[in-house]
Amino acid sequence: MASIKHTLTNIVAEAFEACGIDKKYGTVEVSTRRELADYQCNGALAAAKPYKMNPRQIGQSVMEKLQETAADTFSEISLAGPGFINLRLSDSWLASLTQEMATDASGRYGVDPAADPKMIIIDYGGPNVAKPLHVGHVRTGIIGESLKRLSRFLGHNTLGDIHMGDWGLPIGQIIMELEDRDPTMPYFDASFSGPYPEQSPVTVTDLAEIYPTASSKSKTDEEFRARAQQATSELQEGRPGYRALWQHFMTISIADLKKNYGSLQVDFDLWLGEADVNDLIEPMVEKLKADGFAYLSEGAIIIDVKDDADKKEMEPLMVVRSNGSVGYEATDMATIVQRVRDYDPDFVWYVVDGRQQHHFKKVFRAVYKSGIADKNKISLEHTYNGTVNGPDGKPFKTRDGGVMSLQVLVEMVIDKARQRLAEIDSASGYPAEEQEDIAQKVGIAALKFADLVNHRTGDYAFDLERFSSFEGRTGPYLLYAAVRNRSILRKAAEEGLSAGQILPPAGPEERELQLKLLELPDLLDFAFDQRAPNHLCDYAYNLAIAFNRFYRAHHILNEKDEAQQASWLGVAQLTVDVLELVLDLLGISVPERM
Ligand code: ARG
Repeated sequence: MASIKHTLTNIVAEAFEACGIDKKYGTVEVSTRRELADYQCNGALAAAKPYKMNPRQIGQSVMEKLQETAADTFSEISLAGPGFINLRLSDSWLASLTQEMATDASGRYGVDPAADPKMIIIDYGGPNVAKPLHVGHVRTGIIGESLKRLSRFLGHNTLGDIHMGDWGLPIGQIIMELEDRDPTMPYFDASFSGPYPEQSPVTVTDLAEIYPTASSKSKTDEEFRARAQQATSELQEGRPGYRALWQHFMTISIADLKKNYGSLQVDFDLWLGEADVNDLIEPMVEKLKADGFAYLSEGAIIIDVKDDADKKEMEPLMVVRSNGSVGYEATDMATIVQRVRDYDPDFVWYVVDGRQQHHFKKVFRAVYKSGIADKNKISLEHTYNGTVNGPDGKPFKTRDGGVMSLQVLVEMVIDKARQRLAEIDSASGYPAEEQEDIAQKVGIAALKFADLVNHRTGDYAFDLERFSSFEGRTGPYLLYAAVRNRSILRKAAEEGLSAGQILPPAGPEERELQLKLLELPDLLDFAFDQRAPNHLCDYAYNLAIAFNRFYRAHHILNEKDEAQQASWLGVAQLTVDVLELVLDLLGISVPERM
């Protein structure tokens, strides 16, 4: 059945054509005034000028044509204002589409897979190894995960890449800090020929203390900074002791990352990072130089990325620093070389903090300009995200002003969920293990929904009380709605009742619900086009509200008319399936019961 907007547009476009007006004016949208219409077409207004006709006159002819050709589809076609064509779907047509959606054998609820599937790489997470995940990693992880699921569901070839920050100055700083603490370790002995110890000399917990120490030392102690920079370039050049240490950091960090992202139900297909493109940098720089894009300036190798249209000053991009080391620009450029080579993507979406817009602007310009990426073939997009703030409007901190670790944050939301569940005496009779599972799901749903409901580019304030409420636009409310709907279906099944043919809506509440269900394919396309999961959140919430109204209006389990009852069960089943699908695309899982 596909997109209802497309289906209706086809019908209306034909009517325009039959009236001698270009098909393109037949575009149909969801009505902005639902009390007047379900869908509307504003094309008569747009066509008036080029056709030198009165828009109402065009509207009138199109309307008459539709009354003739599409009487089954529409129960009401009317003209409003200067020439809007208002459309109300006939109840029988509506029900037949709902039925089609409910019985879609592909299990996709009427959502067709993309006709022209794209290869999409989503770069999200972006943790720096050797540093614990913190509140700054919440949005990129949650949004990236949702975009990945959405893109994949729509049938695109999608790969999520964590793109670890594992090759820069922080690693050099840690290595030097370790040397200061214990210079006798074999990693620092340039004449040592191995093998190096199998056991890492530090744990993740150690790193959580070592890195901040090293980083602040680097800010105040010039000599230390110089040594850290030197160590970074020696690591990049392949000094064995430093590489061995780096390998240890990687192994312990990745295990920790998997655990932490796992608790958020965020996962990655590719565990690549900056280090993986090390060998691509030199040939890339050589080619950039040979082609005249990169040149030597004060010891560094730079690329001009100015554009004539720039209003502000645009400094050149530095691919190689004067000390020979490479930084974030070079690794991001080489990663594009690698992605083009290995995956030939149509899109790369960088779900990265909006404060990095300038960085990506420069990198994208450099790779397009130099032909590393073909602008006509591959779309590099910084699908940036805002931050999670505290009450002061600045990035959320701990009570004493420290960095809020992701682990602590996740523990906080799960604790709160436990407390809330106890307050409403939910799940109290269930086995302890199940109770804990429910608390985790509720906590994660609270956090993820609160994050995703905001447009990705905006910031929002962390408000645990509000996020974990069972009322309003929250994750827990939606879980509750899904679980309750499912329990109704379970009760029906126990009484031997099952879903059947979906009938025309029995009242306005059911009509709204069926209309909402039919919006699914268009909604998913829209969220995808906008790279914006918040539209999925709005939809899930509105669907849950529509279901509540429907459920209050009709006593499904007491209904005497069997066909009517079976139809309502069909609508309820479809609603819970769609709700769970959308929650899954948000990366939120629903407990069996609550
Ligand atoms: N590691 C980076 C940081 O912490 C984020 C990486 C984002 N991805 C990218 N391709 N640059 O700022």
